[in-house]
Amino acid sequence: MRVDVTNALEVPTTVHWHGMHLPAEMDGGPHQMVDPDATWSPEWDIDQQAATLWYHPHLHGETESHVARGLAGMFLIQDDVEQALPLPREYGVDDVPVIVQDTGFSDGGVRDGSQRGFAGRLGDELLVNGMRGPYLEVSDEVVRLRLLNASTARSYAFTWSDGRPVELIATDGGMLEASVELDLVMLSPGERAEVLVRVTPGERLVLRSEMTAEAAGMIGSIAAMNGRTDSFDVLELRAADELDASAEVPDQLAELPPVDAGEVAATRRFTLDGFEVNGHQMEMGRIDETVTVDTTERWVVENTSQMPHSFHVHDVQFRIASIDGSPPPPHLAGWKDTIFAAPETEFELILRFEDYADPDSPYMYHCHLLWHEDQGMMGQFAVV
Ligand code: C2O
Ligand code: CU
Ligand code: CU
Repeated sequence: MRVDVTNALEVPTTVHWHGMHLPAEMDGGPHQMVDPDATWSPEWDIDQQAATLWYHPHLHGETESHVARGLAGMFLIQDDVEQALPLPREYGVDDVPVIVQDTGFSDGGVRDGSQRGFAGRLGDELLVNGMRGPYLEVSDEVVRLRLLNASTARSYAFTWSDGRPVELIATDGGMLEASVELDLVMLSPGERAEVLVRVTPGERLVLRSEMTAEAAGMIGSIAAMNGRTDSFDVLELRAADELDASAEVPDQLAELPPVDAGEVAATRRFTLDGFEVNGHQMEMGRIDETVTVDTTERWVVENTSQMPHSFHVHDVQFRIASIDGSPPPPHLAGWKDTIFAAPETEFELILRFEDYADPDSPYMYHCHLLWHEDQGMMGQFAVV
């Protein structure tokens, strides 16, 4: 894979490949700035299972404002295992990216945040793939939506307008073992979910976000102040009067290795509190953690604050071994690179650092509420 990234802006920026396993120098984080008019050409081998990844700017201290202006896109990875499944996969027809960003528009039509809460900038309108008031004309019985929360601060709880369950087949880094039916699919910034929906001829069905204080992990008044109880229509599906038949979804989608804590080489703790990880703010010149290549580690991530945060790790797809001491529910049992960390919650993650040793180029871990990241809620690890 090689990408030529040319910066036609008047300011420096970066493009980070979120969820991708790749050498740190190609990662597009704060150390890989692209100056105006310059071209940056990272190259790497794609070496991970089929998944819905994405890309966005990642410059130190200004990620929120760059992502808020819309620079976000999807990166779809295919493999033989996923190709062998009878799933919808005709891009834009029955396999559709749904990149959700909240925004507001000033009088001059410029994108803007309409309010700020402690999570960061919150827009009062939703855009899907950059469009206002979007709808999708559906010509197949089953549609696969690849949902990406590319918002800077807002989390969503996706539901269907007729109350039917949401059928989840994949999370950040790949397919689940089997599909899971959920009342809602909650995505915090940076997370992805692939869902399937079966429509009937002529049907109108709306994908909505109906966030509640409970789902947002906050008490009601604080959640409301931070836009966490807002609801939105996200995307309307308009089914044709005649639909092409779709295959039945198989019971088993993928085989996941057991989350085996037996061979763990190191355990690290990450405490999220006060816009800091482990009591530090990000410093470009400081490598916080050094990981040995070709080992598996256990990272215990604890949000000790009263504020929701999230935790994202570059380079790897990890598994959740436990949440507050219990095994994760089925919808969080697959490959993840970003987790929503509700207040006073502890996650145990199992991560494998396969290859790409480089003592000089660190990867990042951080809160994916981008204002928090910009405030320094980020750290660096090197694989050596
Ligand atoms: Cu989606 Cu470090 O980023
Ligand atoms: Cu990332
Ligand atoms: Cu945070």
